[in-house]
Amino acid sequence: MRLDKLLRIAGAASRREARELAAAGRVTVDGAVVSDYAMECLPEQTVCLDGVPAKPLPLVVYMLNKPAGCVTATRAEGQTSVLDLFLPEERTGLFPVGRLDKDTEGLLLLTRDGDFCRRVIRPESGVWKTYEVRVSRPFPPDTERLFQEGLVLPDGKRLLPARIETAPDGRRAVIRVREGITHQVRRMAAAVGTRVTYLKRLSIGGLTLDGTLPPGGYRPLTDDEQESVFR
Ligand code: URA
Repeated sequence: MRLDKLLRIAGAASRREARELAAAGRVTVDGAVVSDYAMECLPEQTVCLDGVPAKPLPLVVYMLNKPAGCVTATRAEGQTSVLDLFLPEERTGLFPVGRLDKDTEGLLLLTRDGDFCRRVIRPESGVWKTYEVRVSRPFPPDTERLFQEGLVLPDGKRLLPARIETAPDGRRAVIRVREGITHQVRRMAAAVGTRVTYLKRLSIGGLTLDGTLPPGGYRPLTDDEQESVFR
């Protein structure tokens, strides 16, 4: 594993900090000062920061049932962050994979594995995200066609084709998108003349929120569940 990644996964420093610490001569590998932050370290080698051993923590991926009212960030001054929901000993090095708005509930992944995170959020991954939506006024009848054609937002941005299945009352729907644009579902609803009053993410790719997790509950994913995100 690369030295800067190892220090990050050990919770010793962010990747950028790790580079600065290595440049400052504060990092050793088997007792020798190493300034090359990209050095590949072997599992049997001992990496120390300021003389203290840095051990990589497991590259776990957690599924969280995010409650409304908490912020998708590692820290949120004066507010509850999604990391605050984890036990202190589990938080180290953990970060959210993408983002849900403060008022959005449901499936959020958190990990220390930067490669996994990049695989999920890079635009070309094409991973579909499914949302349960409630709106203030019924979706207009041509919403399905507009979504399928690729909605154009008021700022001129054209979205990739999305899907919507609307309940008979027109005010509840399941929406599937495969981009990760900020406030995407809320902006899509606004673009067709309604307003989201409730939003919950149900699935990411082939991974569905575990219905037994209460709001704020979380659990690690199995290897198979991690891969199901890309199916
Ligand atoms: N779309 C939104 O508008 N908000 C979210 O939190 C997720 C998707």
